[in-house]
Amino acid sequence: MGGSSGKPALVTGAAGGLGLAIARRLAADGCRVGLIDIDGDGAVRAAAELEDAAGFCCDVTAEESVVDTFGRFESAFGGPPDILVNNAGIVRTGDLLEHTVEDFRKVTEVNLVGVFLMSREAGVRMAARGSGAIVNITSLNAVQPKSDLGAYPATKAAVAKLTEQFALALGPRGVRVNAVGPGFVEAGMSVPIYRDPELREALGRAVPAGRIGTAEDVAAAVAFLASDEAGFIHGQHLMVDGGGSFALWKQMPRLPLGEAES
Ligand SMILES: NC(=O)c1ccc[n+]([C@@H]2O[C@H](COP(=O)([O-])OP(=O)(O)OC[C@H]3O[C@@H](n4cnc5c(N)ncnc54)[C@H](O)[C@@H]3O)[C@@H](O)[C@H]2O)c1
Repeated sequence: MGGSSGKPALVTGAAGGLGLAIARRLAADGCRVGLIDIDGDGAVRAAAELEDAAGFCCDVTAEESVVDTFGRFESAFGGPPDILVNNAGIVRTGDLLEHTVEDFRKVTEVNLVGVFLMSREAGVRMAARGSGAIVNITSLNAVQPKSDLGAYPATKAAVAKLTEQFALALGPRGVRVNAVGPGFVEAGMSVPIYRDPELREALGRAVPAGRIGTAEDVAAAVAFLASDEAGFIHGQHLMVDGGGSFALWKQMPRLPLGEAES
């Protein structure tokens, strides 16, 4: 991908899953990548497979840890990141009416507060230099919520709005901010869903594109939005979901022709 070569990039939650796929893709595009994760050993192991990469332990919910990580990143790469991908995220499932406030707060801390902290620290540094790109990972659930996903859909919708807020704050200072919303993707936290081949096939059929997505599908969209080729794309929320976000009528019982479909 043109426009990213040689740039230092920072990817959160990069010890595995989508984060690692994004780090691999950015590295393939020529970026020098800092992989951070609360699983520090995992981040270091993941970085070892890439050229010109380094892994760091960081809890994106802890201000001190985030500030310290930017310091370590700058020592390793000779300056702040040109690209930040806010990918770290967690989910707690279960009946919403029995959901604990602890679970609700924990998911909000990682998925929303973590994105704020990382974006603020990166944003200050990028704005001082007058350039940079931030890409936030949301979810299909930001626009199609499910009742059994606790705080997850609400936090992802909030990240989409926070993307616009940071886009307003940072755009005039040369920094672009966008979001990518993965849909049915066989990677990371969703891998267990696809273990049943029948369910996997049924889900693939329900997606308008006719298949389940891959981590590489998501990573390609992130790499594009982070690159100079997306130079005038700003404050956008790009769904990478094979059309899943507008597929409601595909799931509904067939209506007789001529009846209003509204
Ligand atoms: N896999 C999917 O189907 C899917 C779909 C839509 C959106 N997403 C989003 O993609 C992102 C990546 O998800 P994934 O599927 O790869 O999950 P994953 O569980 O494989 O990866 C998440 C990573 O975040 C790290 N992490 C958790 N808390 C952290 C913290 N406080 N600080 C730093 N790192 C922390 C974890 O250690 C883990 O390595 C998440 O934001 C998720 O919501 C995933």
